[in-house]
Amino acid sequence: MLAGFALSMAGIRDSEAYRNIVREQCSIAVAENAMKWGPLRPAPDSYFFDDADELLRFTEANRIRMRGHNLCWHRQLPDWFAALASKQNARSLLTAHIRTVAGRYAGRMHSWDVVNESIQISDGRADGLRNSPWLSLIGEDYIELAFRTAREADPSALLTYNEYGIEAETPVHAQKRAAVMLLLRRLRQRNVPIDAVGIQSHLAAGASHRYGEGLRTFLRECRELNLEVFLTEMDVDDRELLAERNARDGMVADTYEAYLNAALPSGNVRALLTWGVYDRQTWLDHEEPRKDGLPQRPLLFDDELRPKPAYSRLLSSLQRYPSGGAPI
Ligand code: XIL
Repeated sequence: MLAGFALSMAGIRDSEAYRNIVREQCSIAVAENAMKWGPLRPAPDSYFFDDADELLRFTEANRIRMRGHNLCWHRQLPDWFAALASKQNARSLLTAHIRTVAGRYAGRMHSWDVVNESIQISDGRADGLRNSPWLSLIGEDYIELAFRTAREADPSALLTYNEYGIEAETPVHAQKRAAVMLLLRRLRQRNVPIDAVGIQSHLAAGASHRYGEGLRTFLRECRELNLEVFLTEMDVDDRELLAERNARDGMVADTYEAYLNAALPSGNVRALLTWGVYDRQTWLDHEEPRKDGLPQRPLLFDDELRPKPAYSRLLSSLQRYPSGGAPI
C-alpha cells in the first residue's frame, strides 16, 4: 500500500518543514496542479515543464513514487483552448499533448490519471458522459483515444480513470457509480488499455454522509474487472459541522476511519493520497467555503503541520488492513 499527498509547488519550494513532512510521510505523491493542461500549456505551441520537472526531481531524490494528474479533463484547460480547438484539430491536440507529456516522463511515473471526471449524470445523456469540450469536439471515443495514446507514450505507467462523487451511499452517488462501472466495462470489452480506477474520495463529515455497501460493491466489481483502485484525492469537507475545533477534528477523523474501513477490506486498494498536506492549503476554502468564514479542517495535518486526530485514525485503519486486504 502506497500513501501520500498532493503537493503544491509553493510548499516544495518555500518550506523546509513542508519538504520534511513529505519526506517522512510519503511513498507516493501527485502534483496538485503542475501537470494539468493549464499550467503546462501557456501557449498552443509551447510547454512549460519547469514546475513538473522540479517536483519529480524532488520525489525521485526521496524515493517517492509519482502519480501524473492529468492528461484529459474538462477543467483547467489553457485560456487559448476555447478559441483554438475545433472538431478538425481536437484529436491531434489531445494526442500530441499526451505524447509529449506522458512521453517526457515515461518510465518514471507510477501511474497517470489519463481521463478525469468524464461522467456527469445531470448532463442528461443515456451513457452518463459529461458534455465536456472533448466530447463535443471528438465524440465519445475521446476516452479510448486518450488511453491508447497514453499506453504508447508510457508503457510502464498504470493508466487510471479518475472520478469524484462515487463514494457515498446516496442515490446521486449510486447513479454515478453505475455509469462509471458501465464505462469501465465498455473500455474492458474494447480492450482499451486501462489498469486502475481512481476514486477521488472528496468526503464530507455529517450525519447524511455514509460510506458502505455501495462502495464495497463497486470495489468488488473493479476487482472482477482486474482493475486496481487508488484513493486519489482524500479530504473531508467539514461545512456541515459546528465551528468548535476539537469536535470538528473528531468528526473529520471519524469520517476518514469510516471510509477506510469500508474501502480497505476490498483488497484491491493499492494507494491512498490526501488532496494536500495540511489544512492551510486546502482547495476547499476556495471552492467549498464554510458559511461562518472559518477555514475548513479537511486534512491530516494542521496549519502548523502537526498531525491531527485524523492522522492517527488513518494509520490505525491502515494497520488493520495492511495490504488493503483482510483485517489482521
Ligand atoms: C483543484 C486544485 O486543488 C485547485 O488548486 C485548483 O484551483 C482546481 O483544482 N478534482 C481534481 C483536482 O481532479 O484536480 C482538483 O484540484 C480538485 C477536484
